[in-house]
Amino acid sequence: MAGSIKNVAVVGASGNVGKDVVQELLNAGFSVTALTREGSTSTFPANVVSKKVDYQSVESLTSALDGQDAVVSTIATPAIGSQLALVDAAVAAKVKRFIPSEFGVNTRIIAGTPIGDILQGKIKTVDYLVSKSQENPSFTWTGVSTGLFFDRGLKYGSIGFDKKSKTATIYDSGNEPVQVSNLSFIGRAIVAILSQPDKSANQYLSIASFNPTQNQILEIVEAETGEKWKVERASTAEEKKIGVEKLSKGDYSAFSNLLRGRLFTDGANLAAKGENSANDLLGLKEEDLTATLREWLRG
Ligand SMILES: NC(=O)c1ccc[n+]([C@@H]2O[C@H](COP(=O)([O-])OP(=O)(O)OC[C@H]3O[C@@H](n4cnc5c(N)ncnc54)[C@H](OP(=O)(O)O)[C@@H]3O)[C@@H](O)[C@H]2O)c1
Repeated sequence: MAGSIKNVAVVGASGNVGKDVVQELLNAGFSVTALTREGSTSTFPANVVSKKVDYQSVESLTSALDGQDAVVSTIATPAIGSQLALVDAAVAAKVKRFIPSEFGVNTRIIAGTPIGDILQGKIKTVDYLVSKSQENPSFTWTGVSTGLFFDRGLKYGSIGFDKKSKTATIYDSGNEPVQVSNLSFIGRAIVAILSQPDKSANQYLSIASFNPTQNQILEIVEAETGEKWKVERASTAEEKKIGVEKLSKGDYSAFSNLLRGRLFTDGANLAAKGENSANDLLGLKEEDLTATLREWLRG
């Protein structure tokens, strides 16, 4: 049993997903402590305690986690490997729940694929959490796959829609449902997990704000703007090929190509729906796709 959780340490609390996680935790009444690197210039809301840590030192991390009930890691992708020391520190500090920095593809099903090679630090972290929770029943974990960050992805072009030029890049038929989550929705999922920790102990969960197809997004943005958008056709097979070539040369920008090649492929069947979705378990309602797209178009 995970027991009740009040004090939450957030790692990477000033980051893209960290900011929304902190805001939703504060809204829900949790006490939040941000762990931040020595020399970091990150800033945090006034009611967040911040502690400088050395991610190489289990001792420094254990001392920073004293009195914390949960750790939510939203640490940057390049620092994913630091999480093993963080897990050791969490166990030593008697933390009850550890949520690792996943927040993307379901890393439980990618071992042995090119994407799995790039994300092996995430896979190792969850494997390590599984083994630590088996050794220490009072130490539990929850992994969260969110799919693509949707509101942020629209803003920075990773969803394939450019509102300035009114151009959509549609991969394959454009009919595959794709798991996506808005950042505040991810924050609310973390709140739901920590509010009722027993429901999600030692589980890897997939959530989604919604699972739109590219053609559904196109239809909505055309209706909202009252204009036909230019459509550029692209192939996921080509994206995969480019990704594998880049990866063979040690170029990790391969990740974006491989991701598009994986998620938009016809028949990929990776949506977080029905049995593949933990939205119901966490009491999360699907969000309004049109409202999210409208907000982006107006912004
Ligand atoms: N699904 C998606 O579309 C998507 C998109 C982007 C990211 N993600 C995933 O979401 C998680 C969080 O990513 P994010 O983009 O939110 O993180 P981020 O904004 O890039 O970084 C979060 C924080 O990590 C801390 N950090 C610690 N060590 C670091 C290092 N060596 N280099 C840089 N920062 C370091 C920094 O905080 P301090 O300065 O306070 O130490 C930084 O503000 C990752 O697992 C990532 O793979 C998913």
